[in-house]
Amino acid sequence: MTQITMTRPDDWHLHLRDGAAMADVVAHSARVFGRAIVMPNLTPPVVTTDGALGYRRRILAALPAETTFEPLMTLYLTDRTPPAEIKMAVESGIVHGVKLYPAGATTNSEAGVTDIARVGEVLAVMAELGLPLQVHGEVTDPGVDLFDREAVFLERILAPIVEEHPGLKVVMEHVTTSEAVSFVENARDGVAATITPHHLLMNRNAIFSGGIRPHHYCLPVLKRERHRQALVRAATSGNARFFLGTDSAPHSVETKEAPCGCAGIYSAHAALELYAGVFEAAGALDRLEAFASFHGADYYQLPRNTGSITLVQKPWLVPPAYRFGESSLIPLSAGETVAWKIEEMDCH
Ligand code: DOR
Ligand code: ZN
Repeated sequence: MTQITMTRPDDWHLHLRDGAAMADVVAHSARVFGRAIVMPNLTPPVVTTDGALGYRRRILAALPAETTFEPLMTLYLTDRTPPAEIKMAVESGIVHGVKLYPAGATTNSEAGVTDIARVGEVLAVMAELGLPLQVHGEVTDPGVDLFDREAVFLERILAPIVEEHPGLKVVMEHVTTSEAVSFVENARDGVAATITPHHLLMNRNAIFSGGIRPHHYCLPVLKRERHRQALVRAATSGNARFFLGTDSAPHSVETKEAPCGCAGIYSAHAALELYAGVFEAAGALDRLEAFASFHGADYYQLPRNTGSITLVQKPWLVPPAYRFGESSLIPLSAGETVAWKIEEMDCH
């Protein structure tokens, strides 16, 4: 197959940042995706519905003219999120989930949850109102090896949440291990997962190939090849619990190429094209549409997009960098060739 036409996709996990930097990256997502779940880990984080409304307005104002991209907002869960905030969020109609960052787990997670016992009441209200919990699934215990943090999180934190709140919708974001894939496959209804292009494309050798590669550092960190293969199997399986979420996470080149560099891989410039390469290699291009355009919308109980998009096999060169506010960012596959290209969009 050298060409594929599919329903316009959505990105169910995206970092857009704010201000001038946001204006430089949002066009990449809006070019392809109909909607995106926008992560709330700004500084300071988006902890209220009011904050989400303001952030949404800024995103819409930064969109290029004639784009129809819709940002789907989220709230950042803290130890002190009041249950009444959840009610307001649902009533607003613009908040589609609440993000659980274990405090200290990743970029801008300092204000996150220090003890899951503190958010029991909020989770109960979310379950009652049908608002999904989006989970960064890594423990922060320094005694746990970095590469084991997701698997340990499943046992210590996620399994109890899923059991104690049987009505709660839970998305395990950016799964990286075969353990997480099995957990989601075998969990009760309402448990789903997003999968990034970088975790489908690379294993942990990519962080150290020929020297240290800060642009391949993200959290959860890339894992062994057998885990990557489990992710490819899950994404291409047709199982509706797995859907597209890029976790595209822009950082300036200076903050990545530093003695203590930031976690995050930028993929919004080529995300769908890279997923297409993964699905093609797995002989599953016919399943790309469901993964990218159906499963997430169905999970979030939103209508599927009506526009379409055509990808063709036509190699193109990824630029070495993109502008990012006052600075620049190095995208995934910078300077390399991507096999699939977007030929045509019909975003009605
Ligand atoms: O690599 C990551 N970058 N993982 C996260 O969880 C956060 C993200 C970011 O915001 O940069
Ligand atoms: Zn993320």
